[in-house]
Amino acid sequence: MASLSVFGAQWGDEGKGKIIDLLARDADFVVRYQGGSNAGHTVIVGEEKYVLHLIPSGILHPGKINVVANGVALDPLTFMDEVDGLRERGISVEASNLRLSTSAHVILDHHRKLDGLAETWRGVGRIGTTGRGIGPCYADKASRTGLRVADLLESKRCRERLSAALLEKNALFTHVHDADALDLEEQIEKYEAVGERLRPFVCDTGALLREAHAEGKSLLFEGAQGVMLDIDHGTYPYVTSSNTGANGIPSGSGFPARKVDRLVGIAKSYCTRVGEGAFPSEDQGEAGESLAREGHEFGSTTGRPRRCGWFDSVAVRYALELNGADGWIMTKLDILDSFETIRVGTSYVVDGEERMTWPVGCTDLEAIEVQYEELSGWQEDISAVRRYEDLPAATRAYVEWVEERVGAPILMLSVGPEREQVIPRGL
Ligand code: IMP
Repeated sequence: MASLSVFGAQWGDEGKGKIIDLLARDADFVVRYQGGSNAGHTVIVGEEKYVLHLIPSGILHPGKINVVANGVALDPLTFMDEVDGLRERGISVEASNLRLSTSAHVILDHHRKLDGLAETWRGVGRIGTTGRGIGPCYADKASRTGLRVADLLESKRCRERLSAALLEKNALFTHVHDADALDLEEQIEKYEAVGERLRPFVCDTGALLREAHAEGKSLLFEGAQGVMLDIDHGTYPYVTSSNTGANGIPSGSGFPARKVDRLVGIAKSYCTRVGEGAFPSEDQGEAGESLAREGHEFGSTTGRPRRCGWFDSVAVRYALELNGADGWIMTKLDILDSFETIRVGTSYVVDGEERMTWPVGCTDLEAIEVQYEELSGWQEDISAVRRYEDLPAATRAYVEWVEERVGAPILMLSVGPEREQVIPRGL
């Protein structure tokens, strides 16, 4: 593996944490390049469960260098809490294995506060954000009013930038939202102090990655959320605020697009979404409930129950094509073990017309009707299977049928939460 991009091909929560953790074994660097602490990557190692929001999952492997690159919306308080939490559990987290970009935009108290207030104002149009200040932070980045990690490291600069930001945000809180203003001096003190704690980790991560690649080191780019939540290509406006696929790598990390050698999407054998917005293959009946129960579908960042439904081959094909994926990994295949029949979305009906492709430009995605194919289940526990040929015939038939529909090779199957519970198929 020279440089590998792994990204979510649905609406997030595809089980990326476990896969990245597994692939991190063969990587020298593991890189987060977008999103922030809205992500929650769960990794189970033996009896231990780790939920990582900002720090790449490679941190659980000694000797790997973990990079939080410039495209991440960095909540410095969450970042340091995560560092402290890992250290308390005996994981080494030092400048030698964790690097943070000078240019990452910082999520400040006013971003989190604004995230909550903006949702209240949206009323029925609410997005159902994770409330972590992601949208307001990226909005300030685009408005050129944000603070970056480097700004927290210089006292004069921190005061200037924070004063300017709070002048505007406090006016907004008090005059528009009828909320309390934030205290400038308190904020300066708080963020300068956390800036000092960040300092040892900070560097030009783009240069670090380009040099590492030139020296033949292997890089793993860890996507957060999923392509259907991409700000440009997802179900706008019910999306997150970053480019969630491999498309986010060059701008989000300073690593050139043409040097990413291999691209792999991740999708579950069914589908989930948290928050509001279109979810064509959602099942609000018994099947959806069973998938939620079997798949333990509760958000690892917010604890919210996830909406569940069947695998949607139209959406996954779109996500993979959009990013030029070489193939994909199907996760949580074992969750389908108990189903007598399994449904797979094969096409959409939009405005009375059947289509096989994602309806870009359609303003009423909620009205999409999904056409399904029904396949036989296998009703057998497959969680201990490690070789493809040892899977029940009905499972293989399901996998191969879905693979053909999606039109891209399935390179690995995941059949349980543990590191070892995978079936290789070309990766
Ligand atoms: P935000 O990213 O907090 O602004 O939330 C925007 C939308 O993206 C909401 O529907 C969230 O539920 C969703 N979202 C954000 N992060 C994740 C994630 O890691 N997994 C799944 N959904 C997410």
